[in-house]
Amino acid sequence: MKRASLFFSVCLALAASLALAGCAPGGAASATASPSPAPQTAAPAADETAPSPSPAADPASSPEDAAGGGILVAYFSNTGNTEEVAQQIAGLTGGTLAEIQRAEPYGDLRQEAEAEIQNGERPAITVSVDDVEDYDTIFVGYPIWWDEAPAMIATFLESYDFSGKTLVPFCTSASDSIDNSLHIFSELCPDAAIAQGLTANDPDDVEPWLQGLGLPA
Ligand SMILES: Cc1cc2nc3c(=O)[nH]c(=O)nc-3n(C[C@H](O)[C@H](O)[C@H](O)COP(=O)(O)O)c2cc1C
Repeated sequence: MKRASLFFSVCLALAASLALAGCAPGGAASATASPSPAPQTAAPAADETAPSPSPAADPASSPEDAAGGGILVAYFSNTGNTEEVAQQIAGLTGGTLAEIQRAEPYGDLRQEAEAEIQNGERPAITVSVDDVEDYDTIFVGYPIWWDEAPAMIATFLESYDFSGKTLVPFCTSASDSIDNSLHIFSELCPDAAIAQGLTANDPDDVEPWLQGLGLPA
């Protein structure tokens, strides 16, 4: 009986150590594979590796490492100019496009859009992806309206927790630069890193700007 019990204990110990040896590499493999473009898998993979991040996952806070694995290109475009830039950025970075739209289309665009910016309104929006918070780097594009971002962009910035994320503003305009519109980013997302924005009226400016940010282009 004693002998049988000892044999059983040894088997049990062997089985346990084999099982442990099998799990560890599996966990490490999923951590290094996590910078895949699939947004749904990004968050769970990060959670799984959180207690003991692998060396490959460690420096993932830099834009370079987030590239291709966690880039969202969110934009609102009324007449298509900003959308073209968004598509260019997504093509160069491998990012996922997300269109922001006003839930209720404007009646009199000029009158209503100006009033909602001036009054600090937050019109309801729709966003074409529902996993915005799974991304680490979020481009936010819009046309300049009265030297500001459309009120929809403020709604977007307030709708998610962007703490610890990198927001990258870009715009198109008739002539004004992005500068005057940028204040809402730091006001509404004080815990996000705000990258250098771009007034993207010349498509040739986009690639050098991305390279300057350390993103693939
Ligand atoms: C309501 C409205 C207000 C605008 N205000 C400005 C402005 O203050 N400064 C500017 O340079 N362009 C202004 N524009 C021009 C747009 O920013 C420009 O055409 C932009 O590229 C449009 O982008 P979209 O095609 O993505 O909508 C305005 C356009 C509209 C419709």
